Amino acid sequence: MASTYREVYARWEKDPEGFWAEAATAIDWVSPPKRIFDPKAGVYGRWFPDAVGNMCHNAVDRHVASGRADQLALVHDSAITGTTASFTYAELLTEVTALAAVLKDNGIGKGDRVIIYMPMVPEAAFAMLACARLGAIHSVVFGGFAAKELATRIDDCTPKAIIAASCGLEPGRTVAYKPLLDGAIDMAAHKPDFCLVLQRPQLAAAMTEGRDFDYATLVAAARGRAVPCEPMLATDPLYILYTSGTTGQPKGVVRDTGGHMVALEWSMWNEFGVKPGEVFWAASDVGWVVGHSYIVYAPLLHGCTTILFEGKPVGTPDAGTFWRVIAEHGVVSLFTAPTAFRAIKGQDPNGEFIGKYDLSKFRTLFLAGERGDPPTIEWAQTHLGVPVIDHWWQTETGSPISQNPVGLGMLPVKLGSPGVAMPGYKMEVLDDAGHAVPAGTLGNVLVKLPLPPGCLPTLWNADERFFNAYLAEFPGYYKTADAGYLDADGYLFIMARTDDIINVAGHRLSTGAMEEVVASHPDVAECAVIGVADEMKGQLPLGFVVLSAGVKRDPHEIEKEIVALVRDRIGPVAAFRTAVSVKRLPKTRSGKILRGTMQKIADGESWNMPATIDDPAILSEIGEALKGKTIL
Ligand code: COA
Ligand code: AMP
Repeated sequence: MASTYREVYARWEKDPEGFWAEAATAIDWVSPPKRIFDPKAGVYGRWFPDAVGNMCHNAVDRHVASGRADQLALVHDSAITGTTASFTYAELLTEVTALAAVLKDNGIGKGDRVIIYMPMVPEAAFAMLACARLGAIHSVVFGGFAAKELATRIDDCTPKAIIAASCGLEPGRTVAYKPLLDGAIDMAAHKPDFCLVLQRPQLAAAMTEGRDFDYATLVAAARGRAVPCEPMLATDPLYILYTSGTTGQPKGVVRDTGGHMVALEWSMWNEFGVKPGEVFWAASDVGWVVGHSYIVYAPLLHGCTTILFEGKPVGTPDAGTFWRVIAEHGVVSLFTAPTAFRAIKGQDPNGEFIGKYDLSKFRTLFLAGERGDPPTIEWAQTHLGVPVIDHWWQTETGSPISQNPVGLGMLPVKLGSPGVAMPGYKMEVLDDAGHAVPAGTLGNVLVKLPLPPGCLPTLWNADERFFNAYLAEFPGYYKTADAGYLDADGYLFIMARTDDIINVAGHRLSTGAMEEVVASHPDVAECAVIGVADEMKGQLPLGFVVLSAGVKRDPHEIEKEIVALVRDRIGPVAAFRTAVSVKRLPKTRSGKILRGTMQKIADGESWNMPATIDDPAILSEIGEALKGKTIL
């Protein structure tokens, strides 16, 4: 089939408001939009300013009412416990409504914040949808973060309630969530009114009298109650999702209700080529944006069956797990990060596990979260025999910026490119001075304002930070903070970040935040954390530390303490396992640490002596310090 992409994109370019007005007709509104875009509202304008609707109604209730009551809505597959649990749309409605009743009875209503700190259990999705039903703003915190990170989020969004589980399950390790939750509440200045705790059979948590309530008991008592969906303005926040910024203070990305519904629903067929009733699987975590958009909201909005998978691509129990899940549940599309495929390829280079499963329903593999490296894409194409689609987006956008749009008809695949700009996104590449660069030239990848529906309108309680972080440097544009280029056919190539964010196993991490923790060690005078290339995880953090004058202790002991400190403050997900002590850090004459050059040295790449370097000898000291070191 010839792709209609160019025609559809041109239609959007000619009349963006008409385009989004039409897309909005796929949503069941309480009051449909009369006005499509208000350029004067908010920081850069707001979409559907007068529309009223509810996400939970669109993702759950309307499907029950329109004939999907007995269709599976959500399948929980835990490769760690070896169990599955399924919920039809009718059952999903029961669970979500019961939880909404519990929250409502305890004083949660429109605009209240609720933190969800849960592993990959169905209740995490119920909790998100129950908040949406009441108009409460959820903020899901990834389970791999430490108590301190949770405390920062508690203080920033000041939740009335926290919904948590007693534990998460990592291969070979039960992660006790409750002590982390209690620690975070102790550390935070703000205290929630109450916590709802899901006791998992693997580990029971001790409850704090008067503050903690048992999820199962309260929900069981509330099953069968009716709780209406709260009418929400399209511009009301649906959720806050914290993502790494350049400091230890994460950015609270705000997602609004209406634009998000429209953008996600549009994406399911046009971009992902998936029809209502089909089974869609995003193998991510509800704590990340991929989990919000493509485990929970988009597949449910579209009337699909979504898979919530607890496990890893390898080791739970083997490199065939993904194929088992696809075969067992009839998955048509899998969305994951390239690192998952590098892990599978590492353990099953010839794809032998693939042949053991019936993948006849499987049509498309989608990869995002980090650059889709050509060898990984080629391996997947060869062994799976389906199109492999690299697509690029960010927590801030909530759905793909660029892709090869499957539903509109695929364009030729260019390896190493996450495709072409989706409607809504006018992409430009500018140099640091703000001048357009020719096709094929690397520069700052920018989106012409306004951002399309579904993108962040601002950061939580921080309009100015939002403006300064994203809109100030290139007036009239949103700065993606990615560097890349556009080729002559309009394909994007995303090569690196322009800030201090690194990408470890598809997880977005801030080296600045890690430096703040490393620098807090009493024996550290100064430090630099960089991301070095890693074959499986893409990048790994590596810390250089200069010890304070007069420190007599064994530097290796201090390095170990620093590694433990980062794990304790940020969490295991930081994957910070190597700190190296050096005499001095290389700097420019104005005192700026030369992180880029250190990274090249660590990666074994060729590098040029920076003209502004203060003392060239320091770079050889860095090379020496790394000799014989393995970055774990
Ligand atoms: N709760 C608690 N701890 C967690 C966690 C969670 N939800 N998720 C990860 N961790 C821990 C891991 O157990 C590990 O701990 P360890 O240091 O004790 O071994 C640490 O955080 C680092 O995790 P990770 O970087 O995921 O490494 P891994 O070796 O456990 O797994 C992969 C490597 C590639 C298999 C895994 O990262 C993966 O499946 N990635 C897919 C990418 C993905 O989902 N990206 C999200 C965006 S699409
Ligand atoms: P996150 O906000 O966690 O989704 O991370 C977004 C960042 O991940 C982007 O700004 C990119 O740096 C990187 N990223 C995501 N998808 C891709 C992709 N397909 N190709 C290259 N980089 C990607």
